[in-house]
Amino acid sequence: YILLAICIALAAFLYSLRNSLDYGRVVYNHRPGLCTPVHGIVNGSEDIELIQSEGIAFVTSGVTDRLVVDGKVFLYDFNQRESENKLTELPIIGDSFDQVNFHPHGLSHWIVNGVIRLYVISHSDENEHSIQVREIKRERDFVANRGPFPFSVIFRPNGIVAVGPDQFIITNDGTAQNDLVFMGEILVGYRGASVVSWDGKESHKLLSGLYGSNGIAYDPRRNTLFVTELCGKTVLAYQLARDMKTATLISSIHLKSGCDNIFLSPDGSLYIGCHPIMHETAVALFDCLGNSTSASQILHVKYNEDYTTADVTEPYSNDGKEQSGSSVAVVYEKQILIGSVCRGLLHCKIAESNAL
Ligand SMILES: *[C@@H]1O[C@H](CO)[C@@H](O)[C@H](O)[C@H]1NC(C)=O
Ligand SMILES: *[C@@H]1O[C@H](CO)[C@@H](O)[C@H](O)[C@H]1NC(C)=O
Repeated sequence: YILLAICIALAAFLYSLRNSLDYGRVVYNHRPGLCTPVHGIVNGSEDIELIQSEGIAFVTSGVTDRLVVDGKVFLYDFNQRESENKLTELPIIGDSFDQVNFHPHGLSHWIVNGVIRLYVISHSDENEHSIQVREIKRERDFVANRGPFPFSVIFRPNGIVAVGPDQFIITNDGTAQNDLVFMGEILVGYRGASVVSWDGKESHKLLSGLYGSNGIAYDPRRNTLFVTELCGKTVLAYQLARDMKTATLISSIHLKSGCDNIFLSPDGSLYIGCHPIMHETAVALFDCLGNSTSASQILHVKYNEDYTTADVTEPYSNDGKEQSGSSVAVVYEKQILIGSVCRGLLHCKIAESNAL
């Protein structure tokens, strides 16, 4: 009867594994309008940070296959005319800048005295983590390196959101430093992910026991923090305490999709880049330079007044052939820019507002 118990437990485990890896799930293609690939990025566009007031966006590239791929920061300028090249690679200037070990991941910004200050999570070739600070010069033809931020409570940093000048909150998506051990953590359902804040003077562990926390966004108007759990397939809303020491859960919405980075729209709704078929994502992530692709999905989450329920729509869905492994989407004036963990950027026009 012990064997029976083991068999049932194993069957339950395999059944939940089948569900969590999305075997049997099919996605079909639809778009909000005409979509075209943006020329110039090929080795990943994992995170995008929109500077709403300027109509520009920064894109991080080169977080995977770190030994062969160079880390880069690109600028996408929505203001350029159709015929112009909207995408440029920004050289990074500064004595202490270490190009070889720069592999940018999540990014966020805060405007300090009129200057855009970018906070970029970076991993070295040896998998050491840091938060790099860059300043964008007015001419916008290069990024000035301000060096790594002296902040050490990071284990597996993934997403970052600035909440003030030199104040930010990051997600650690797990604990293991080795990718295979990390896979093991995820498969057995170990909830080792966390969220840590830096209030300008010291760090605070805001949340722990999360299952693959990944994307993060902050709405200063209502002091609300949003976090996605990629493995838990949820989006969580929290009330952030003013002192940044605690966060209180308001709601957890099950999206049934492995959601990645979050873009907070000016109307308070969220656009999230998601991975709807996890077994494809797992294969494609280990074959970034190869031909494997994985399905893409952009979700638009419109909360009710008290964040307890949400109306969720899907502005974009793809089998992976047009855009593989969508990790983020930002919306600017009837356009949507969709990033990918391993591949380039996709630009779509929004034909009608109800396409969102
Ligand atoms: C992409 O990465 C490959 C190395 O695998 C490199 O040869 C190529 O130049 C990179 N392309 C760009 C645009 O960064
Ligand atoms: C990818 O596809 C191309 C064209 O079909 C093929 O030539 C190449 O060998 C493939 N690469 C890998 C790593 O499978």
